[in-house]
Amino acid sequence: MAIPSIFFISFLLLPVHLASGKVTVNSTLSTNDHNSSWFSSSGEFAFGFRPINNNTSLLLLAIWLAKIPDETIIWNADISNPLSSGSQVQLTPKGLSLTNPQGQVIWTAEQQDNVFYGEMLDTGNFVLASSDSSYLWQSFNYPTDTLLPTQTLDLTSKLSSRLTQSNYTKGRFELYFDNGNLYLSQIGWPTESRYAKYFSVNTNSNVSASKLVFDSSGNVYVETKGGSQIGLGWDDSGLDVSTYYYRATLDYYGVFTFYSHPRASRSHQVWSIVRFVPSNICTAILSDLGSGCCGYNSYCVWNKTRPTCMCPEGYSLVNPDDEFGGCKPNISLGCGSDDARSRENPEDVYDMKPLQSVNWPLGDYERLINYSEDECRESCLHDCNCAVVIYNTARDCWKKRLPLSNGRLSATDEGGTTALLKVRTRPRDY
Ligand SMILES: *[C@@H]1O[C@H](CO)[C@@H](O)[C@H](O)[C@H]1NC(C)=O
Repeated sequence: MAIPSIFFISFLLLPVHLASGKVTVNSTLSTNDHNSSWFSSSGEFAFGFRPINNNTSLLLLAIWLAKIPDETIIWNADISNPLSSGSQVQLTPKGLSLTNPQGQVIWTAEQQDNVFYGEMLDTGNFVLASSDSSYLWQSFNYPTDTLLPTQTLDLTSKLSSRLTQSNYTKGRFELYFDNGNLYLSQIGWPTESRYAKYFSVNTNSNVSASKLVFDSSGNVYVETKGGSQIGLGWDDSGLDVSTYYYRATLDYYGVFTFYSHPRASRSHQVWSIVRFVPSNICTAILSDLGSGCCGYNSYCVWNKTRPTCMCPEGYSLVNPDDEFGGCKPNISLGCGSDDARSRENPEDVYDMKPLQSVNWPLGDYERLINYSEDECRESCLHDCNCAVVIYNTARDCWKKRLPLSNGRLSATDEGGTTALLKVRTRPRDY
């Protein structure tokens, strides 16, 4: 009976998920087992462990596009810290259970005790199904920062941006429904407190929204309870799902962006920005609370499709690896005890550096009218609370203290606005 038993054994060893995308109960994936993932039947999507930025010791449980060069992650399990090697995910009759190397359960996607199989679908949705193939759980209902064609966002769900380009922790921006309208807001990270809304799709009050739809043709719209469709204000024409992958991602800098990527796998291909809201994130966010698109003390420059953040002269990035993480003065300003003791003349140690068309519009603490630019400069120089003055051609002098927020460079010169920044030119004498 040698031949049948070899046949039988090799049948058992066959990876059952390869043919159909289906995963049987009690299957496991382990971070120790490289290339261990569950693929969709087309091979286009994979579910499993993914290193973050080629750092093989930090991993996510994720779903990604497996056939394109950068293997874009479109979903990840919501866990507070990256996984270390030795972690494992198992499909049980209850659902998915993720354990750390110590065997502690750190994340689950569990339902009743009747999960019959899991399946990585060719849409990018990972589902847990019962014996009659109805879905008990689906990753599409727990989105992270990305929506795909055929996915919807219901009234109680939200998208959260990631923290930075390479950090998948939930970040500073959310896309969500409130009272039937769709909004973007900055949040009081890491809590759930929402600051001023900077983008909205308003449904009219008596026919409020039911969901945000990303349909199979690539159109994105809010569908009302009455069945009508309200666009986001971007143009949905010219889409071709057979040639391109599409995704809509709430980027870590707060823009909700629609991307395309050719399906044909050739190297050097990247995601293109097709459309986005709001049209200029640098000016769209104006909130008393929070830093704005860029971090504190920096200013935002809009470059046609995405923002960049700049530190003013005399300031540098708080975290050199995070352009959006804000800036700090190279030498601290302020009214510290050493300043009080100091007999230094401010003229000798500070300069007021001009910065054309840059403004931090909120958070003034003084408004001095009918001032000359020199008077404005002097007033800031001799005020230890003052970090910057905004001076305009109407002879208004606005004094601001740190931290500066909502900073932006105006493309059009708003009434000849100049920022004058106090910069320490000599180190402190201690
Ligand atoms: C992501 O950021 C959080 C908060 O700053 C930090 O605790 C975590 O270690 C970061 N993760 C990675 C992989 O750098």
